[in-house]
Amino acid sequence: MEANAAKRKEPRKALRVKVISMGDAEVGKSCIIKRYCEKRFVSKYLATIGIDYGVTKVQIRDREIKVNIFDMAGHPFFYEVRNEFYKDTQGVILVYDVGSKESFDSLDSWLAEMKQELGPHGSMENVVFVVCANKIDAGKLRVVDESEGRLWAESRGFLYWETSAQSGEGIQEMFQTFYSAIVDLCDNGGKRPPGASGIGFTREQADAIRRIRNSKDSWDTLGVKPGASREEVTRAYRRLAVLLHPDKCAAPGSEDAFKALGGARSALLKNIK
Ligand code: GTP
Ligand code: MG
Repeated sequence: MEANAAKRKEPRKALRVKVISMGDAEVGKSCIIKRYCEKRFVSKYLATIGIDYGVTKVQIRDREIKVNIFDMAGHPFFYEVRNEFYKDTQGVILVYDVGSKESFDSLDSWLAEMKQELGPHGSMENVVFVVCANKIDAGKLRVVDESEGRLWAESRGFLYWETSAQSGEGIQEMFQTFYSAIVDLCDNGGKRPPGASGIGFTREQADAIRRIRNSKDSWDTLGVKPGASREEVTRAYRRLAVLLHPDKCAAPGSEDAFKALGGARSALLKNIK
């Protein structure tokens, strides 16, 4: 009895986890890690050569975790070095620069690179991803807004944080939430806990919002061919309006998309006989 009681009081063994950073060159991966670990910011760009490695200890609830961080170089030139490091990872910090649409558009190819390196038997399902929309201090230079980034991340079951390595905004909170989700994953036998991706909207809704946001004219907004009839326009509007009605869709950006649908329908119906 006594031995059992003593055993119960023993602190739990430290968890060891592996975390990697991913994202285009110059988006701020190394600066985010430096801000968190060393509480400082360097404005001069020093490209990571291949990989930087560091170990840090953090306390999450009653657990101590030892984090091995592999900070990857984003430049395509270092692909051959990076590809060794995707295996056995519990957490990924996926970064883009809110002032660079290109770095946001690259997120898919980073996922594809990781998937390819993990091979057919590897799984990305049981990895915690946090998407960092970085450089939010850049103000007017911002080209990717919050709802667009959040939608991309949350529709995949990833965490999303707005960060600035320069000012420190969001960095502590991002790491705290990220590590906490990794502890939950480890406590759940290395599988994402059920409900972790209960995000309140579907992939179909997310795809429709993204398509509407990127549409080039009113035909495109409703997903009909130029020259479509009144009936076709009305039918397309109804289908999308039901899909994205803000009462039924909690996806970031659904209200704007819903408004855009109404605007596109009115504009088209005015000119179709
Ligand atoms: P690679 O190692 O080449 O893949 O780049 P990286 O993603 O590690 O970028 P790094 O952290 O080296 O930062 C690139 C540049 O962006 C540097 O000049 C940083 O000072 C700057 N930078 C990083 N984070 C921020 C930020 O939050 N705000 C601003 N304004 N600049 C930032
Ligand atoms: Mg770097």
